[in-house]
Amino acid sequence: MKVLIIGSGGREHAIAWSVHKSPLVDKIYCAPGNAGISEFAQCVAIGAMEFEKLADFAGTEGIDLTIVGMDDPLVGGIVDVFEERGLRIFGPRKNAAILEGSKAFSKDLMKKYGIPTAAYENFSDPLKALAYLREKASFPIVLKADGLALGKGVLICQDWEEAKEGVRQIMQDRKFGDAGRTMVVEEFLTGREVSVLAFVDGKTIRPMTSAQDHKRAQDGDRGPNTGGMGTFSPSPFYTEEIDKWCQEHIFQPTVDAMAAEGRPFTGIIFFGLMLTGDGPRVLEYNARFGDPEAQVVLPRMKNDLVEVMLACLDRRLDEIELEFEDNAAVCVVLASQGYPVSYEKGIPIHGFGNFRGREGCYCFHAGTKYTDGHIVTNGGRVLGITATGSDLKEARRRAYEATEWITFSNKYMRTDIGKAIDEQ
Ligand code: AMP
Ligand code: GLY
Repeated sequence: MKVLIIGSGGREHAIAWSVHKSPLVDKIYCAPGNAGISEFAQCVAIGAMEFEKLADFAGTEGIDLTIVGMDDPLVGGIVDVFEERGLRIFGPRKNAAILEGSKAFSKDLMKKYGIPTAAYENFSDPLKALAYLREKASFPIVLKADGLALGKGVLICQDWEEAKEGVRQIMQDRKFGDAGRTMVVEEFLTGREVSVLAFVDGKTIRPMTSAQDHKRAQDGDRGPNTGGMGTFSPSPFYTEEIDKWCQEHIFQPTVDAMAAEGRPFTGIIFFGLMLTGDGPRVLEYNARFGDPEAQVVLPRMKNDLVEVMLACLDRRLDEIELEFEDNAAVCVVLASQGYPVSYEKGIPIHGFGNFRGREGCYCFHAGTKYTDGHIVTNGGRVLGITATGSDLKEARRRAYEATEWITFSNKYMRTDIGKAIDEQ
């Protein structure tokens, strides 16, 4: 098979690494890709939002399967464009990707089908939002831009002054663009967060092993929200009992709800959960692998990724049992100092050779490119350093050891990824 992967981050590098292991696959392309991905795939200079050009490429090259890593093209309808041309593509159609594309849609869906989530109100008029926040809200409270905002469109407000400022940023100044046309005001929940990614074929759902992200920029969960600064898998707080409950009350009901709405979902559903004192609640849905969740989940997966994706497309996921190694993985993101606000790019990176021959250590590229034959930084999140171990403590020790192998002048990382493991 010839496979085309769409995206350019650490998640797509992890997907390319997985696809590369499949005996079904002869050749991999990635559009647009990055310096690390080019180890496994031929990178093609077409942007992820250039649907027609991508479909032309897939047609001309005889691509057998296209895998979409990123949210923007899915929400924009890339799958519909490919399917209209008879090209096989893994991911939800536009009418199903709305599960991630509109938080107001997903909240209304959960309410309608009794899927547990935080209490909320949707607003498209900033004055009504302000009136609600002044008269009815209890603090802290959560404000969410409806649309895609690179994981940054969520504000936790401690008091009325912060909430007023939040409404201004999201709805009036449009800090997150059109994503802020509508805003969700949501009850603040406390508990452990866990991410569960699952394969879905429209009717059957097969959850993968759990993971936990660290969304805030600085140690101790301080600083602004980012796309994710590091992950570990599995989450020791996500027990078999909780998994069973989620399957019955959250996972299958979500798939059934989408089908009942005439929006059958094929692809990956990412459940962002909060394990509250009153039970698990959905914080958010995504319509794709998490980044950097994919960097800890895929290295632990025993199945052939391509085989599972083909089963989803053929609606025979019920024939597949997912299997994961009985180990653990930790991923520490190496970022550019200043991410997610402002940072320098184009800085040379050294030390990739240290990963050669190191079993269970991975250097996934997130924002890198080649300049004059040398790999330089090309984004806020630069690399994801993943290590596996027999348990989380060993994986964590090995991952942090491997972060020392890489140097670049504005390298920044959190030093407490997976620290929660110690509190078990
Ligand atoms: P989201 O993109 O919706 O997952 O939100 C980003 C982050 O904001 C989450 O990972 C949580 O840490 C936090 N968050 C979102 N919704 C809530 C909520 N209702 N209560 C508390 N924290 C939340
Ligand atoms: N790591 C969170 C996300 O991919 O949305």
